Order: sequence, then C-alpha cells, then structure tokens
Amino acid sequence: MQHFHLLKISEYRKEANDSAHISFEIPEELQHEFLFRQGQYLTLRFVFGEEDYRRSYSIVNAPSDKNPMPEILVKHLEDGIVSTHINRKLNLGDWVEVGPPQGHFYTNYHPTNEKIYVGLAAGSGISPVLSNIIEALYQEPKSTCYLFYSSRSFQDIIFREKIDLLAEKFNGRLKVVYLISREKHFEDELFEGRISPEKLQQLFDRFPEVPVQEATYFICGPSEMIKKVSDFLKKEKKVPSLQVMYEYYSPPDDEENAERSEEFKKIPNLESFVTLIIDDDEYNIHLNSKKESILDKALKEHLPVPFACKGGVCCTCKAQVMEGEVFMEKNFALTDAEVERGLVLTCQCHPTTNIVMLNYDV
Ligand SMILES: Cc1cc2nc3c(=O)[nH]c(=O)nc-3n(C[C@H](O)[C@H](O)[C@H](O)COP(=O)(O)OP(=O)(O)OC[C@H]3O[C@@H](n4cnc5c(N)ncnc54)[C@H](O)[C@@H]3O)c2cc1C
Ligand code: FES
Repeated sequence: MQHFHLLKISEYRKEANDSAHISFEIPEELQHEFLFRQGQYLTLRFVFGEEDYRRSYSIVNAPSDKNPMPEILVKHLEDGIVSTHINRKLNLGDWVEVGPPQGHFYTNYHPTNEKIYVGLAAGSGISPVLSNIIEALYQEPKSTCYLFYSSRSFQDIIFREKIDLLAEKFNGRLKVVYLISREKHFEDELFEGRISPEKLQQLFDRFPEVPVQEATYFICGPSEMIKKVSDFLKKEKKVPSLQVMYEYYSPPDDEENAERSEEFKKIPNLESFVTLIIDDDEYNIHLNSKKESILDKALKEHLPVPFACKGGVCCTCKAQVMEGEVFMEKNFALTDAEVERGLVLTCQCHPTTNIVMLNYDV
C-alpha cells in the first residue's frame, strides 16, 4: 500500500516565480524511509471534502548535499488545486501527509567516471535536474556538468543563488547558462529564448567541448519541450536512449496520444475479472475493458491502490502483470526494459483478456 506519513513543515520559503521551497521535519524512526536518490520525488496527499488529491513534487537537493533529507519546490499554478493550497494556505509548522521518495530519474555515479552531464531545465523543472547535477559534482570529481536553464525573466530564475554558489564551489566543473525568454539577456543574444532543438544546436555550436553523443542528459520542463528536445537528441543527434533521461510533470498533449487512443478503440470489448495483489492481500474487481481504467475501478471500490498523477507520468500506480493481458493507453514513466518485464501503469490499463492478475507489490 502507498504509505503516507504526517510530517511537519520545518522550513517554508517563497522562491522566485511564486513558488514554495519546503523542508520537512522527519522523525528519526522514519529517516530511513525518506532516504532518497537524486532526481526522485515525494507524493503529497490532501483530502478536501470527499476528494483525495495526490500530487508529486521532485526533490531539489541531493543525497550528498548538506541536508540529507528531501526538500521540494512547488510552483503556484493559476487555478491549480494543490499548488494553490500549498502556496497560499500552508506555512511553517503545518502538517502534511507525505509519501516516501519514488521514481527513477537518475543514473548511477562512480568516483572514477570522467563524464559530461548536461542538464536542460525550464521553470520548476529545475528541481530534479539540479538534484542530479549536485550529486554528480559530489560523487564524480572528474566529471563536468553543464546546466542550460530557461526562465521567463531573471527574477523568475528559481534557485539562482544556490546554483551560482555551486558553480563557484565546484570551480569550473559546473558551467551554467541562464536562458531568458521574455526579457533581453544582458550578456548575449544567444541566451534569449526557450530551450528548443534549434536553441540546443546553437548552444552546442557555442560550447564545442560538449561531446554531444557521449554526454548524459537530464531534461525537465514543459512536456512539449521534453518531447521535442529528447527526440532531437535521440533521433537527430543519435545520442543513445539510455543517455537521454527525462521527467514529465504532466503528459504531453500531441498526435502520439491521438494515435494511442485509436489503438484503444481497437481493443476487444469484454467483461473481465481482475485480481489485484496489494501488500500480499488479494482483491477482486469486475470491469468492462472499454470503460474506466483498472486503477479508477479499484478506487471506485475503495481498494488501497497507490496512485498520484493518474496521467501515466509519475509511475506510482505501477504493477506487474502476473496473468492475462492488459492494454496500456499512455506511458511516460516506465522504461522499455520495465515494460518488457511486464510492468504496467494501472491508471492507463484496460484488460484485454477475461482474467487478469496484477501485483502491486513490486
Ligand atoms: C513526477 C512528477 C514530479 C513533479 N514535480 C514537480 C515539482 O518539483 N514542482 C512542481 O511545482 N510541480 C511538480 N509536478 C507537478 C505537480 O505534481 C502538480 O501536477 C502541479 O503542482 C499541479 O497540481 P495542482 O493540483 O495545483 O493543479 P490541478 O488542479 O491538477 O490542475 C490545474 C490546471 O493546471 C494544469 N496543469 C497541471 N499540471 C501542470 C503543469 N505541470 N504545468 C502546467 N499546467 C499544469 C492542468 O491541466 C489544469 O488546467 C510534478 C509532477 C510529476 C508527475
Ligand atoms: S498514477 Fe501516475 S502513472 Fe499512474
């Protein structure tokens, strides 16, 4: 089951761009549960009336950083239910339900590595990218990091002070370029605009020491930017897929989704008996393959299934197919290798056989 712990907010600071930078007080007995890998995220839970809202927030700091407990940054979105609550209502000393770290937006570091890491971040997408870069700087003394980070204006640059201090501390091993999209850049016109394939090409031309095909990339920002830039690196620049890592905050809204929906129309219309294993307990549900997803049906029946985004992005709802077959409508979280191993995102799954068994204890 997805476990949430009531944690007290021990630091609450407003950051640029109407965002809240939050740390939690984690009691000693829970500290092992909140040990994290760079680039992971926490899921926060809020119950307003009858509704159970869960939202994921990437960890900003890194395991080797001075605070070994996770910190998050929540950007206020106009009309966003949870981000507005966190930015307008919460404060120091408030208690919040928080789930332990999850996610796999990271690579393994080794002190003998001599690599180049390139962070491509926009807005609040800086959090997991920065976490990965900080850890690389601490763990790999011979590696170099580049951070190309786009914000609307200089005032909107989140964690600018922290980033500048890191660049100073690691003395040439972290090179930072701030891109500004809605203001003039006082240093160089190249640094005006957003991160796009064209801009990235211009940056590669300006920094020819970046070995484009050998570098490892961490990308996070608006979904469209992630999609275009990762496609550009993999397809045009022939960077191996394993070196292009990204974290979506929300699903991309593009033609590929439309194609997937066409595929969905073709799945058989059948009644299915689905068994779910959650914390070693078995639960059974019946559902029609064409109606709601397996996760939605389980939630309707008040089963203790884990979830957060419900959009195929965060991976919280993953399970292993033990029997039968399912159709997964969208997947922006599992790797190809995980899908091959039979892992699925249950918020996106519809049964395609009469009997299905899924194990959440993976
Ligand atoms: C793995 C993961 C990590 C994340 N990390 C962070 C993080 O570090 N910091 C952070 O601020 N957010 C992060 N998010 C996004 C976060 O979980 C919420 O989706 C976001 O705070 C909006 O929630 P809400 O309840 O305020 O908005 P909702 O009430 O769910 O949505 C309100 C409106 O905003 C739109 N919307 C929802 N999400 C986004 C988005 N990301 N960008 C633009 N429009 C959106 C919706 O389409 C809707 O119109 C992450 C998401 C995932 C899946
Ligand atoms: S709940 Fe986020 S991927 Fe399913």
